[in-house]
Amino acid sequence: MKVLIIGQGAREHALAWKMSLSEKVREIIIAPGNGGTAAVGKNLDVQASDIKGLVTAAVKEKVDLAVIGPEAPLTEGIVDIFEKNKIPVFGPTKQAARIEGSKVFARTLMEKYGIPCARGEVFDSFSAAKKRLETAELPIVVKADGLAAGKGVIVAGTREEALKALSDIMEKKIFGAAGDRVIIEECLTGRETSLLAFSDGETVVPMVPACDYKRIFDNDQGPNTGGMGGYSPPSFFDSRLQENVVKTVLEPVVKAMETEGCPYKGVLYAGIMVTPAGPKVLEFNARFGDPETQVILPRLKTDLVDIMEAVISGKLDKIRIEWSPEACVGVVLASAGYPGSYRKGFPIRGLKELDGDILAFHAGTKQAGTKGETVTDGGRVLTLVAKGAGVAEARTRLYRELPKVQFQGAFWRKDIAAREN
Ligand code: AMP
Ligand code: GLY
Repeated sequence: MKVLIIGQGAREHALAWKMSLSEKVREIIIAPGNGGTAAVGKNLDVQASDIKGLVTAAVKEKVDLAVIGPEAPLTEGIVDIFEKNKIPVFGPTKQAARIEGSKVFARTLMEKYGIPCARGEVFDSFSAAKKRLETAELPIVVKADGLAAGKGVIVAGTREEALKALSDIMEKKIFGAAGDRVIIEECLTGRETSLLAFSDGETVVPMVPACDYKRIFDNDQGPNTGGMGGYSPPSFFDSRLQENVVKTVLEPVVKAMETEGCPYKGVLYAGIMVTPAGPKVLEFNARFGDPETQVILPRLKTDLVDIMEAVISGKLDKIRIEWSPEACVGVVLASAGYPGSYRKGFPIRGLKELDGDILAFHAGTKQAGTKGETVTDGGRVLTLVAKGAGVAEARTRLYRELPKVQFQGAFWRKDIAAREN
């Protein structure tokens, strides 16, 4: 079969790599892809935001399965449009993707169906929200309702910070209409884990849990990024805790979405804080996580294409999904200056010198010039992933290999998974 993967990050490279291992797959197209996906399939120069262009390409190429990586096209309704054009597609519909596209929708759903989350309130007026913040206990969390490229959540330690966040979102509209409404909620403390699951609208099958590291510097200092690394499995998230999240979050959400008339098909990603009072939801995403995917998929033993087909046809209960007990650690190599401004176009060396069992998933890379040299082309350049019998072993192997890869200004966190040592 012919597969189309939409997106251009290391997550999409990991998806392309995993799907390429399926005996069913004959050809993979990645739109727009990156310097790494070009080695697994054919890159197609159509952006993930160009839904019309993507449908036209999918029809022309007669793809048998389309997989949507990023959230923006999902919340715009790309799945509905592909379905209308009779192209089998993996991902939630526009109505179902609201679980990520609108934090107000997600909160309202959780409150209605008794799903554990932080205490909070929704505001559509700046003055009422401001009044609430003036007496709120600190720290306090301010969230823009809509998509904000991962920057819409502010955990404010001071009242000034909280008021500034509110003003930026609701008065200055730095995220546009995504800031028409805000949520002000209590700050949860504990350990954070991502539990992703496959859902066919009825049956929910969790993947293995993973942790990601969002801040740019070691010890969780500095600004948030798209993710600087991750690992799976976190030792503190045992099978009992996982079962708890499946029973109190994932299954009730999928049931609730069906009741609400927008059955959820695809990957449901629950961001969970394990608090002293039990696990609570921080956020939902309507897709695979990045960098979680890079440390989860290498542990998947079952054919991913079989799972995706079972999700699409509503037969997830008929398939057994198996995972390797091995652990995975992934570290992102970034360009100096990221998440602020950075330069691009530097040659990347040493990828071929990596041990054969290290996985190198590309994000901000491209093939340049007549020789097809791989050069940097973004802030997050690569995710390197190592496997091991446990997290500590995988971590040691990864950090030993990592310095082999070089490009001007290469930067990475040194403490990914260090808490598991
Ligand atoms: P999101 O943009 O929804 O992915 O949220 C970004 C991050 O903000 C989460 O991964 C958490 O680390 C943090 N966060 C969100 N909500 C809360 C909360 N209620 N308490 C503490 N941290 C939070
Ligand atoms: N790792 C966070 C995300 O994918 O949104």
